[in-house]
Amino acid sequence: MKAWDEMEAAARRARAERMAEHEAALDELEAGGIDLNPAPGGTHRHGDLEHASDHAHPHARSGPGERPVVGIVGAGPVGLTLGVALSRAGWPVGAVASRDAGRRERFRERVPGARAFADATALVDEAELILLAVPDDAIAPIAGTLRLYAGQAIAHTSGLLGADVLAPALAAGTQAGAFHPLVAFADLERALAALPGATIAIEGDDDLAAHLADMAEAIGGSPVRLAPGSKPAYHAAAVLSAGGVVALLDTIREVARALGLEEAGALRIFVPLVEQAVANALALGVESALTGPATRGDAGTVRAHLSALASSAPDALPVYRALLERDIAIATRRGALSPDATERLRTALAGGS
Ligand SMILES: NC(=O)c1ccc[n+]([C@@H]2O[C@H](COP(=O)([O-])OP(=O)(O)OC[C@H]3O[C@@H](n4cnc5c(N)ncnc54)[C@H](OP(=O)(O)O)[C@@H]3O)[C@@H](O)[C@H]2O)c1
Repeated sequence: MKAWDEMEAAARRARAERMAEHEAALDELEAGGIDLNPAPGGTHRHGDLEHASDHAHPHARSGPGERPVVGIVGAGPVGLTLGVALSRAGWPVGAVASRDAGRRERFRERVPGARAFADATALVDEAELILLAVPDDAIAPIAGTLRLYAGQAIAHTSGLLGADVLAPALAAGTQAGAFHPLVAFADLERALAALPGATIAIEGDDDLAAHLADMAEAIGGSPVRLAPGSKPAYHAAAVLSAGGVVALLDTIREVARALGLEEAGALRIFVPLVEQAVANALALGVESALTGPATRGDAGTVRAHLSALASSAPDALPVYRALLERDIAIATRRGALSPDATERLRTALAGGS
């Protein structure tokens, strides 16, 4: 909290100077049909700027000891879910920036009191903690268009990138961080339900990290700080855990088509087996959870699978081969296979007899 409190006065001065410029930008956005409709109550006039219009907006700053006002750039799956979760947890979500009118409207419907902007630069005056929930490749370009004021902080939600990518937005007395929920944001309600208990990787100076950790806990998450330089590996593991499993399910679905099963039927029959394997791995460890032909040295079975897939689901062959290769390595490590059995399996997998 210290940084926000101590820098409040400097931030107020900076905002006052900036207000004159920003007022024109707000009018331009309104003229362009951007929804700037403020929530009623808690407003103040830009009276000290002698502005001709009666335009008013909510106070963006928190008081000493209060939670910082959050502004979210990007109303996609992550931005919307975090906006709703934070708002429900009592965190002030003051604004959203999204280029899409439909997404802006949806965000405002779900996050009462949030102001909506088309442009991230307009949001800076409305928030103390700015969250960039945009694709990884867009983070640096957007940060390059922003200029924070003393006492403000910015964080992104990427699992891959470090906070340093936000450096272009920083000025004296500002901080940058990262806030990555280890959640698959495929659907709003399901993601909201998944947040409690989810790991949330935090990055940032101690002061900001403490705020981000509070924020993570407020939405039910478990904040963690990763070792410096470890994010790419962390993110690769996350991608295997979510997209990797979905790719495997897609492969299973494709192979099961040869049985006459559509997706729903294939998932209903085979997902319980997936769940057993996961539960076994959690209870017994990965090595002990392995079952199947690799643990028995059944080279003939592997050959039969390859032959069946070649005719009915050829696109599944590379996945099958890669995973069986891994299974053979696990079984060998576990001591389940003799060197000869390992060799026979590898030969079969390579298409030999
Ligand atoms: N999806 C997940 O499961 C997940 C999980 C954890 C973390 N993350 C991270 O969270 C971030 C956002 O993920 P997401 O899945 O919500 O992303 P997304 O759906 O691809 O994009 C989110 C929003 O970013 C805006 N956007 C897209 N391209 C842009 C560009 N070139 N310039 C400016 N804005 C742009 C869009 O807003 P407009 O409405 O303005 O077009 C969109 O609504 C990423 O860093 C991702 O790695 C994702």
